[in-house]
Amino acid sequence: MAAGFFISKSVGIVAIVLGLGAVATIIALSVVYAQEKNKGTSDVGGTAEPSTTATTAAPNNPWNRWRLPGTLRPESYEVSLQPFLKPDANNMYIFKGNSNVTFVCVEATDLILIHSNKLNYTMQGSFHATLHAEDGGSVPAISRTWLETPTQYLVVQLASPLQQGQRYRLSSSFTGELADDLAGFYRSEYTDESGNKQVVATTQMQAADARKAFPCFDEPAMKANFTVTLIHPPDYKAISNMPMINGETWNITEFDTTPRMSTYLPGLRVLTGETTPSPDQVGLPDFNAGAMENWGLVTYRENSLLFDPEYSSIGNKERVVTVIAHELAHQWFGNLVTLRWWNDLWLNEGFASYVEYLGAHWVESSWNIKDLMVLNELHAVMATDALASSHPLSFREEEINTPAQISEVFDSIAYSKGASVLRMLSEFLTEEIFKQGLQSYLHTFAYSNTIYADLWVHLQEAVKKNNVELPDSVSNIMDRWTLQMGFPVVTVDTLTGTINQTHFLLDPTSHVDRPSIFNYTWIVPVTWMTGSGTVNKYWLTNVTDTNDQFKINSPAWLLLNLNVTGYFRVNYNQENWNQLLNQLGTDHEVVPVINRAQIIDDAFNLARAKYINVTLALSTTRFLSRETAYMPWQAALKNLQYFRLMFDRSEVFGPMSEYVRKQVVPLFKHYENTTNNWQNVPVGLLDQYNEVNAIQTACSYGVTECHQLAAKYLSEWQQNPARNPVHPNLRSAIYCSMVATGGEDVWNFLWEKFQNATVVSEADKLRTALSCSTQTWILKRYLEYTLDPTKIRKQDATSTINSIASNVVGQPLAWDFIRGNWRTLFSQYGGGSFSFSNLILSVTQRFSTEFELQQLEQFKKDNQDIGFGSGTRALEQALERTRANINWVKENQATVLDQQVSQ
Ligand SMILES: *[C@@H]1O[C@H](CO)[C@@H](O)[C@H](O)[C@H]1NC(C)=O
Ligand SMILES: *[C@@H]1O[C@H](CO)[C@@H](O)[C@H](O)[C@H]1NC(C)=O
Ligand SMILES: *[C@@H]1O[C@H](CO)[C@@H](O)[C@H](O)[C@H]1NC(C)=O
Ligand SMILES: *[C@@H]1O[C@H](CO)[C@@H](O)[C@H](O)[C@H]1NC(C)=O
Ligand SMILES: *[C@@H]1O[C@H](CO)[C@@H](O)[C@H](O)[C@H]1NC(C)=O
Ligand SMILES: *[C@@H]1O[C@H](CO)[C@@H](O)[C@H](O)[C@H]1NC(C)=O
Ligand SMILES: *[C@@H]1O[C@H](CO)[C@@H](O)[C@H](O)[C@H]1NC(C)=O
Ligand SMILES: *[C@@H]1O[C@H](CO)[C@@H](O)[C@H](O)[C@H]1NC(C)=O
Ligand SMILES: [Zn+2]
Repeated sequence: MAAGFFISKSVGIVAIVLGLGAVATIIALSVVYAQEKNKGTSDVGGTAEPSTTATTAAPNNPWNRWRLPGTLRPESYEVSLQPFLKPDANNMYIFKGNSNVTFVCVEATDLILIHSNKLNYTMQGSFHATLHAEDGGSVPAISRTWLETPTQYLVVQLASPLQQGQRYRLSSSFTGELADDLAGFYRSEYTDESGNKQVVATTQMQAADARKAFPCFDEPAMKANFTVTLIHPPDYKAISNMPMINGETWNITEFDTTPRMSTYLPGLRVLTGETTPSPDQVGLPDFNAGAMENWGLVTYRENSLLFDPEYSSIGNKERVVTVIAHELAHQWFGNLVTLRWWNDLWLNEGFASYVEYLGAHWVESSWNIKDLMVLNELHAVMATDALASSHPLSFREEEINTPAQISEVFDSIAYSKGASVLRMLSEFLTEEIFKQGLQSYLHTFAYSNTIYADLWVHLQEAVKKNNVELPDSVSNIMDRWTLQMGFPVVTVDTLTGTINQTHFLLDPTSHVDRPSIFNYTWIVPVTWMTGSGTVNKYWLTNVTDTNDQFKINSPAWLLLNLNVTGYFRVNYNQENWNQLLNQLGTDHEVVPVINRAQIIDDAFNLARAKYINVTLALSTTRFLSRETAYMPWQAALKNLQYFRLMFDRSEVFGPMSEYVRKQVVPLFKHYENTTNNWQNVPVGLLDQYNEVNAIQTACSYGVTECHQLAAKYLSEWQQNPARNPVHPNLRSAIYCSMVATGGEDVWNFLWEKFQNATVVSEADKLRTALSCSTQTWILKRYLEYTLDPTKIRKQDATSTINSIASNVVGQPLAWDFIRGNWRTLFSQYGGGSFSFSNLILSVTQRFSTEFELQQLEQFKKDNQDIGFGSGTRALEQALERTRANINWVKENQATVLDQQVSQ
């Protein structure tokens, strides 16, 4: 079945959005998910803020510990919430709440500990919390009630113990702030199509913020049924034009009781009378994560759900499809079966991040989207996981306690390495057996909780049933990948047939402090092929082995890790590298397309880590002049970007540009021909991406035909400003070229388009392109605009400065600007979403001289009194990276220059 997208303006919003009015364009997905009804749904990676681990040496009372004692087990919650969408007399947005939680006493105790954060139970001088016995027994008297703020508990001390096996109900009434902090029950503001500010109340409970909406046993293993009632104005739009007054009519909407689920999953909503897809999909203007899999109400950041064919590129579309597939995967994995504690989060997020590709493949099988996992997840996360500061996928339960520690586990290791490792597992078991094991796991643990080892048990059963031969148990194999950080580089010598493994570290001088019980050795599933067509499998279980299979006589070659299904890098003896390069030079298509990308990415990373020299790495890009596939091009462009940053202000850049132009012109011509002079859109997803690569690379390295193409589009557009002649896919690249080659008039033309853009994705493309100017004064003026919220919205200020800094002309201007305005930036933009860390990292990304290092050190010294806020860690990273760049340039500049000149 094809993906069924339909756009509906002013979709009656399905959240606890109290606005029935125009909200934005929301994609409602009906077809794809028709059969996914009634299942649970999860979130896509938010950016985990670095945490300051609170390790206060508190007295050892139960309420001083972060984890619940386990003496009580919740069964059900009845919660009623009433948000006020107008500020009160103190100019605060608040909500009122009322809750009944029924729980069973598992172990006699005179203490009720329940999570509660920033809720106020005191009204008219009394504390509103009462206890009832549900089974008709007696109720202990409450002797004292208080809020334990540091550990976020409501504590009810009883005069006598609760009886084991008895059910009780705690009733409470409370108020809370409906803050714009994107956590718990919060408010989101946006401007509607008529320019009016609208306020929406919505929820984001994961990871530990349900306690900010109502008192609850806020741990994922404390599953219960939830019955939610919302009290809301009958039509928010109608009341938005008049003040909130007492005696106003309120509507009460009660929802069905949910299945048993964790506290991080409730999502609140109001039915609007319109038919809604199930599970409901809701876009929100202010949302931290990409999306959240609330049970029955998935919430998305706007750009992850909104698609408009007139403005959105194929990349925007891919994002929508994969994010939705990700959230749907969580319906089973996460919502129905939940990991007991956050230390195992990687299994939840890794699984959804893997399955999002399978789901997207299922709806759009022509996209070859599964291949993209290698670039987007595996290669991307290897950059982090190859650092000595990485961490294992799995934490021990006792390592993760505080809310800050919990939010820190939502990182790229959990998502992308988790996905890569599960893909490897599925590949060596085969998808069929992987599925069997999963089904049995989900069936067994529906509505309850697990630890990751439970999955291994069920996969092992499937392995046994199907007589699959493995060198060890699933659990023993997987422990190597989940309990120790990093991954191996597997090296083969085709002259001797030896094969071995070493922990791959990007910086060979770095020191690994973290011990591993496996001594950083892995049980590695190796697939391989030879130039003569043999394809086979092999398990590397020891550090080193010799096997005649790997003895290959030249001119044949050996290629390891077919389709990069294994989570490791590969190195060869020089002779085999030469044979592979020969093959790529004569007939590259004999090598599978994913492996053509792998050869490039492995080679550049091996060169960074000094396993091979930089000349060999650069040689892996030679065949690109005859390559039209996206994967190898993307791998090369990503790796060459570092060379560009290091050399675009040096003599190396002349020959380097000439080399890249020579490689890319055939690709540019290829698309010019196959798209009938850029009029047709290539059919495949990856083909569409590579068309963008062709234009972006050609224009940015100065291919004349590319600039002519942009100029042609520009004159068409200027003649008929109402009709944009550029296809959305090509806009970012073409706009940039227009600005880079045009003068002030062109800049002003696009600036006006930016100011009038009504769709976020279009505005973003224009805003980024405006930084492509090569005129100093224009860029300087644009930098000034970033401090004027009427020109550039506050939330876009850093990303605009970042794009200016990534332009070689803009970089020194941006650096001066940041140094000159640090105080202003810090005081006016200090809080909230303003990302100092990205700002510092992007403005210093080219730094590679002693002089720049000194400037950076001076900057740190000069602003010590103001501080660097969220950019503190980034500043240290920038210093370290500058030192590494200085060394790298010193070591490689001459070689690269030679190589580029000789090519
Ligand atoms: C909680 O129970 C009380 C009765 O004890 C009831 O009045 C109240 O409405 C209940 N609250 C909710 C949210 O159902
Ligand atoms: C709770 O609200 C009451 C008024 O309703 C107020 O007097 C009190 O200071 C509040 N408590 C806290 C901790 O904010
Ligand atoms: C509010 O209640 C009125 C009267 O019952 C009903 O007509 C209206 O549809 C309700 N509005 C919402 C948003 O449910
Ligand atoms: C609680 O959830 C379970 C699992 O979905 C369901 O079987 C049960 O009926 C629910 N309880 C109530 C009171 O709805
Ligand atoms: C692995 O093999 C390569 C060359 O074949 C050799 O240089 C390296 O030292 C070996 N590493 C280990 C850990 O045996
Ligand atoms: C790790 O190394 C130690 C000491 O060399 C050895 O005793 C132990 O067996 C090794 N463990 C593994 C899993 O190889
Ligand atoms: C691994 O090494 C051990 C000891 O060195 C040896 O007994 C075993 O046969 C080796 N395994 C393989 C698969 O080569
Ligand atoms: C590698 O992936 C391609 C799709 O990109 C697929 O057609 C091919 O069968 C895969 N090869 C192996 C050995 O799995
Ligand atoms: Zn997720």
